[in-house]
Amino acid sequence: MPTNNAILTRLGLRYPIIQAPMAGTSTPALAAAVSNAGGLGSLGLGNVSTDVAREQIRQLKQLTGKPFNINMFCHTPDPADAQRETGWLQRLQPWFAEFSAEAPKQLDKGYDSFVGNQAMLDVLLEERPPVVSFHFGLPDVDAIAELQQAGIFLMGCATSLEEARAIEAAGLDAIVAQGYEAGGHRGLFDPKQESGLLLDDLLAQLKDTIELPVVATGGLMDGKDISRILAAGASAAQLGTAFISCPESAAPQAYRDQLLSDNAQETAVTAIFSGRPARGMVNRSHREIGPYAAELAGYPQAYSAAKALHAAAVAKGSHDFAPYWAGTSAHRSRALPAAGLMACLVEEMQQA
Ligand SMILES: Cc1cc2nc3c(=O)[nH]c(=O)nc-3n(C[C@H](O)[C@H](O)[C@H](O)COP(=O)(O)O)c2cc1C
Repeated sequence: MPTNNAILTRLGLRYPIIQAPMAGTSTPALAAAVSNAGGLGSLGLGNVSTDVAREQIRQLKQLTGKPFNINMFCHTPDPADAQRETGWLQRLQPWFAEFSAEAPKQLDKGYDSFVGNQAMLDVLLEERPPVVSFHFGLPDVDAIAELQQAGIFLMGCATSLEEARAIEAAGLDAIVAQGYEAGGHRGLFDPKQESGLLLDDLLAQLKDTIELPVVATGGLMDGKDISRILAAGASAAQLGTAFISCPESAAPQAYRDQLLSDNAQETAVTAIFSGRPARGMVNRSHREIGPYAAELAGYPQAYSAAKALHAAAVAKGSHDFAPYWAGTSAHRSRALPAAGLMACLVEEMQQA
């Protein structure tokens, strides 16, 4: 993997800092603030409709003339399975009962994958974001070719050498190497194939094998962390959790409070919120229901059960069932405006 400035030069960024796409938490205001400060802001739009995606991209364009990244989910949706879904709702019944709430009768289908999604592809081709990144796999070859013909820089997330090789073979422009420390969903192509590789080990595996530029992500919170992974050969750093506490994010107050509390000391990967493994701050959901469950509904259907349980708990004043995603370094969160956080990161990098 090249230790040069491939990404900085190609995208015209001032700093090798990417604010991670975070579906439900990233906003046009957050992404614009990061891009305007010389990094690459991102919007996670993997869980929204084409109308919302178009609207969010247009809002972001109003706020910045600098490059930005739009992220899509390329999962293979688990097939609907009424028996399995009913079983999962029955398993959750005692916790709904604790909050005097009815469990939903059935689970929502959830959002579509970007794979084979012509309507979403059309939105991207019309709006032409400078960068598009993919999580949970890759789109089909025709979509990749059309996006590249439109001049869009493409990145794919890899959690293992095998996934990185697949991204390189598909002809994308860069790899986002996601360590096991990362907050949010593991980018696994196949959720059953968990490498468990920590970021430094993953980077070491990619170093001599992968020729594409690599963006490192997972547990990076300050400029010293960024300098370390640049020295390990990465071309840029992607930070998610570090940006959740910025006032520009969409995080609710309870999420912010937990990130700045002792709860941020302990994070773990669990599949029980959505049906796919994801890292968040440990709470009663992790301890009493997860981290894994034989009856678990598929992805993304399971998400609607977790959201209903969280809503029922919040109605009774409990945030103990919240999918508050966070990386292993969440306890080093800083509640700063995004421009201020960017300035800190740059200064710390220079000092390091
Ligand atoms: C709240 C949250 C939401 C996330 N949503 C997405 C997403 O929509 N798409 C994506 O590619 N990665 C997503 N991620 C993962 C990030 O891209 C990145 O891998 C992770 O934040 C890095 O670890 P860190 O949080 O310790 O910085 C999310 C992470 C968090 C914390």
